[in-house]
Amino acid sequence: MCELLKKLRSGDAVIGIIGLGYVGLPLILRYVSLDYRVVGIDIDQEKVDMLNAGQSYIEHIASEKITEACRKDFRATSDFTAVRDCDALIICVPTPLNKYREPDLSFVIQTVDAIIPHLRVGQVISLESTTYPGTTEEELLPRIESADYKVGEDVFLVYSPEREDPGNEHFNTSTIPKICGGQTAKCLEVGVALYEKAISQVVPVSSTKVAEMTKLLENIHRAVNIGLVNEMKIVADKMGVDIHEVIDAAATKPFGFTAYYPGPGLGGHCIPIDPFYLTWKAREYNLHTRFIELAGEVNSAMPEWVINKLVWALNEKGLSLKGSRVLVLGVAYKKNVDDMRESPSVKLMELLRDKGAVVQYSDPHVPDFPKMRAHYFDLQSVDLSPETIREYDCLLLATDHDKFDYKMIADYAQLVIDTRGRYKETHLPNIIKA
Ligand SMILES: NC(=O)c1ccc[n+]([C@@H]2O[C@H](COP(=O)([O-])OP(=O)(O)OC[C@H]3O[C@@H](n4cnc5c(N)ncnc54)[C@H](O)[C@@H]3O)[C@@H](O)[C@H]2O)c1
Repeated sequence: MCELLKKLRSGDAVIGIIGLGYVGLPLILRYVSLDYRVVGIDIDQEKVDMLNAGQSYIEHIASEKITEACRKDFRATSDFTAVRDCDALIICVPTPLNKYREPDLSFVIQTVDAIIPHLRVGQVISLESTTYPGTTEEELLPRIESADYKVGEDVFLVYSPEREDPGNEHFNTSTIPKICGGQTAKCLEVGVALYEKAISQVVPVSSTKVAEMTKLLENIHRAVNIGLVNEMKIVADKMGVDIHEVIDAAATKPFGFTAYYPGPGLGGHCIPIDPFYLTWKAREYNLHTRFIELAGEVNSAMPEWVINKLVWALNEKGLSLKGSRVLVLGVAYKKNVDDMRESPSVKLMELLRDKGAVVQYSDPHVPDFPKMRAHYFDLQSVDLSPETIREYDCLLLATDHDKFDYKMIADYAQLVIDTRGRYKETHLPNIIKA
């Protein structure tokens, strides 16, 4: 343990990051910037090859940064024997829901099973993937100990959730405080040493379970509050009140109120998924997570509500949705990023298509509609100009990227359905808030 602590604190440790996605890549760059030797491990050979060639596959991470990392001794590999060279192993693999909306830990379990044959005494393993309380203790610990390593003596096990917010200009990997829970007191000491050079504030907690539940509370807090404000939006709409004006006014209260904004539905890898990790685990204790279920119900009804507003607005113009040309603005799940996971725009496009509309999209961050596991559109992004905008019966603003020219859209569109409050002070007859 002393040797490992010394290496971590001096910057001599070799850091292995497993899972080179939205979470893993920024972490790699942070450790590289501190001159640690870093190895990236991923089962996706295409990603490994791109990284070794100095290329990024995430829009907000510049390829120059990867090239610079490669120059500084970073390498990526799909070969798990590299585990042996590492002092720290940080796991950042996906934790989705399966088709029954239950936790799918298969990526985490496969990773742990792939690591174990190459483990050695004196390593620290940190799980960063979002998961339910008990995962580290119930799934990782027994697997490691059944390979004859005593956790807390031979190897050290921690859970430290990632709080990455892609596209956020105000915070980055190093400035977002990091929660860390250890399987034992010694594990926690090693975990803090692993992160304290890279992250400005490490927040130790008493167990891996506390750390796991902290991450879920953060995301459940968001999901529930977004559900509340989406419900308020429907009420405000019926009363002829602009919910965005109400939120902005309420946000002038200097205490006791936090602004959350309504939208066309939840998106991204975290907020629509993570709360249900707790729901599932709570069942083991005979408990129902009613706030989570209710927020899920309200939030997942949002795309239908938006489409109903769109149908009503077309109807006012004497048009039916069937056969109308609809351009969806923004298909990424949130503004200024290229990530489409769980994007409500895709649900909106499917609803429109199913009801007979001719659907296209425009997104400056997504030039081609990507291959998605459960969705298919053979489309490319439409460039916006006065001529192209005029061609559509309706523009549905689903993701309010800063790159859109909102004045041009308002000037030339026959109809805009604004789900993001971008036109909150505009009272033009062609803009409908939804
Ligand atoms: N994206 C975010 O903003 C964010 C924020 C906080 C927490 N998280 C959590 O972090 C975790 C990772 O999310 P992400 O967005 O980086 O996912 P991602 O899909 O962008 O990246 C995951 C990577 O893991 C790789 N992978 C899958 N199985 C593997 C295996 N067995 N061995 C090695 N590599 C494997 C994939 O090929 C992929 O490159 C998830 O639990 C997520 O909930 C994500």
